[in-house]
Amino acid sequence: RNYFLDESLLEGKRVLISAGPTQESLDPVRYITNHSSGKQGYAIAKAAKRMGAEVTLVSGPVHLPIPEGVKPVFVTSAQEMFTAMKEESVQADYIIMAAAVADYRPAVAAQDKIKKTGEDLVLKMVRNPDILAWIGQHKAPNQIVCGFAMETRDLDQNAREKMIKKNCDLLIANNLKTPGAGFQTDTNVVTIMTQDHLEHLPKIAKEDLGVLILKTMKEIEKER
Ligand code: CTP
Ligand code: CA
Repeated sequence: RNYFLDESLLEGKRVLISAGPTQESLDPVRYITNHSSGKQGYAIAKAAKRMGAEVTLVSGPVHLPIPEGVKPVFVTSAQEMFTAMKEESVQADYIIMAAAVADYRPAVAAQDKIKKTGEDLVLKMVRNPDILAWIGQHKAPNQIVCGFAMETRDLDQNAREKMIKKNCDLLIANNLKTPGAGFQTDTNVVTIMTQDHLEHLPKIAKEDLGVLILKTMKEIEKER
């Protein structure tokens, strides 16, 4: 494969990307989150900008600089990310959901710091909205949607089920247990799938994967 970067391929295209983890507040000093670094989503945003697109990046809390020329929208919780994505998706051509959204949040975010009392603490959590599923359900005929899937087993089958259930045109699946894949690395090892195609890719730099995703979205659009 070649990851040649055509600097005008996405001219006139509006690309919306989500990245990073979400933080779910427990009380004023504590939250629940995950290990997402935001690197994959930020790398896609950078690639999209270099390919000539107008890029919006909805980002959870991460320690990365916003790529030059990219419009940032900063959010903290899954609910905030949902609101931002609904608003920004209206004017997007390509939507890429690379964020690691928390599936659950604490049922109540306490107003005051939770004091330690007994020997154990039971926490009640409630489901967060599924942002990608909402986007898939509401996508316009001209919009192309790419999801991600993080699996630790039965990757191809689980990922395909997610792609279909969430009405994505494209899905990038990674196995957290593969060396060179996952959260803090600059590389990724993924399976790329569309409705009628599946390919296991060798280890790839996250920005090259961004180029590949965007090229594939362009191909899907052309074939419509
Ligand atoms: N996603 C989302 N909103 C959520 C949870 C997930 O938009 N509340 C998106 C992720 O950004 C990703 C895709 O859905 O693009 C798949 O996320 P993943 O965690 O792999 O799958 P889930 O559907 O959450 O299922 P599970 O975690 O139970 O495997
Ligand atoms: Ca999940």
